Amino acid sequence: MASSESKQDMKADARRVTTSGDIEVSTYLEIAKKIGGEQPTVAKEAVGGAERETIVVLDFGSQYSLLITRRIRECQVYCELVPYDTPWEKIALLKPKGFILSGGPASVYQPGAPLAPAYIYESHLPVLGICYGMQAITKQLGGQVTAGTKQEYGHAILHLSEPDSPLLAGLDDALPVWMSHGDKIEAMPPGFRALAYTENSPVAVMGNEEGIYGLQFHPEVAHTPQGKAILKNFAYRICGCQGNWTIGNLISESLSRIKERVGKGKVISALSGGVDSAVVATLIYQAIGDQLTCIYVNNGLLRREEVERTFKVFRENLGMNIIYVDANERFLKRLEGVIDPEMKRKVIGEEFIRVFEEEANKIGKVDFLAQGTLYPDVIESAASGSTASAKIKTHHNVGGLPAKMRLSLIEPLRYLFKDEVRQVGLELGMPEEMVWRQPFPGPGLAIRIIGEVTNEKLELLRSADFIVMNEIKKAKLYNQLWQTFAVLTDVKSVGVMGDYRTYGYLVAIRAVTSEDAMTADWARLPYDVLARISSRIVNEAPGINRVVYDITSKPPSTIEWE
Ligand code: XMP
Repeated sequence: MASSESKQDMKADARRVTTSGDIEVSTYLEIAKKIGGEQPTVAKEAVGGAERETIVVLDFGSQYSLLITRRIRECQVYCELVPYDTPWEKIALLKPKGFILSGGPASVYQPGAPLAPAYIYESHLPVLGICYGMQAITKQLGGQVTAGTKQEYGHAILHLSEPDSPLLAGLDDALPVWMSHGDKIEAMPPGFRALAYTENSPVAVMGNEEGIYGLQFHPEVAHTPQGKAILKNFAYRICGCQGNWTIGNLISESLSRIKERVGKGKVISALSGGVDSAVVATLIYQAIGDQLTCIYVNNGLLRREEVERTFKVFRENLGMNIIYVDANERFLKRLEGVIDPEMKRKVIGEEFIRVFEEEANKIGKVDFLAQGTLYPDVIESAASGSTASAKIKTHHNVGGLPAKMRLSLIEPLRYLFKDEVRQVGLELGMPEEMVWRQPFPGPGLAIRIIGEVTNEKLELLRSADFIVMNEIKKAKLYNQLWQTFAVLTDVKSVGVMGDYRTYGYLVAIRAVTSEDAMTADWARLPYDVLARISSRIVNEAPGINRVVYDITSKPPSTIEWE
């Protein structure tokens, strides 16, 4: 194996579909497919901005591929991740200024090992190979790769031998880098020079006069602190990008595209209270005003004061058309006796579609369905292979809508990362409170109640959850945490209150930090905050007499308990 990289974690994650945490993001994909809606192709969407500078990352299966894309975008250069064997016809539509070949788990000499398509070398555009990508370049251009006698994982110190190379300009002479490879470059292809080395890799960076470069380490990870400078050098100095990928440009491009596509048509969208659906609605509303109708389904599984808050922002502040549906009882009825987490999701997904369909039918003729699909969701469903995608589908196994309701999809966030979505929201003038809201899963509190969901348990959980939120916000920790919530377990334990013995529920508190929900760490909350949360819950939520704090990271746990 050339590296320790594996997609196992990502595949495990595909189980849970969204990284956005918004309501049933991929449910809509499902709806659109079932009702014959059109799904925009990569090329169609990407070609929209005429002068856009694009760098294309070819994915050889590294767990860091998406991170490369993200880092390039942080340099204000648009970047897309595509499978390594994407045909030139699709790539050409993106008008790339350069290519990056990602790392990957294979070894270039394995039978059937993935290699870069011919256009990578024939287009005469700059190329940067990272780890496996570098080894692929080496093999394809006539160099030699061997299984390293010493595998190199973790930190290494990179020494520059050609600090004037445009790729390495402005870097320290010696810098920490993150290695993760077994194979190494034995002989560079003709015309290449070694630009930097580490103790174990005499060729840690190589390049030729034609703008083809290779890095044996990973510049995209945080453990390579000057990695972003290297990627920026590649984008600016080698590919000649100017950095015109700004949120302002993106919004104006997006607004005109929505206007043009929708024309005089009607659009529906579901509001969940989460940031993605909120940004989608705001963007579309700014583009086409009252031609948009939002449907807000109260499934009875929302947090305390959630409905009121969402309404205040959307109807009162923004003046949008919103249909509010109180489907509380319907959902609870369907959840009676359901204890299996996947079954809960299925039931909630199906019921949601039913309600949505009923309401949409009342509006009359509708042409488009808007949804908050994000880039990681798109990549995840495209890259996770048939097994994993099959799992995604059972997860959101929704009932089909009648064929007569044919809608086209509008997904204005389809190429954005969560942090970019937040920036769009801020630029559109959305309230900070909404933009920085922590993700909340589509199935809501149902997957935070272990066992059967009942009204009584929902109320208990809402009380505990409200206290957690309140204390976290008071301690000014809310924005630093990816998610914070309470879980109502089905464990009861003995306690004592005054002179009485109690037998009450055990509540677990979960607070995690994360960049994208793929991995997460438990938050080291200050003891006094934990103490206040615990004491308030047992005092203010009768029926709960014990509070524990979840100190597991993801993996091996997941963020949610169900
Ligand atoms: P896990 O628990 O898999 O969660 O670590 C990762 C992220 O996804 C959210 N999540 C969901 N979001 N429908 C959603 O819309 C779901 O069924 C679902 N399950 C988990 C979770 O809150 C976290 O942000």
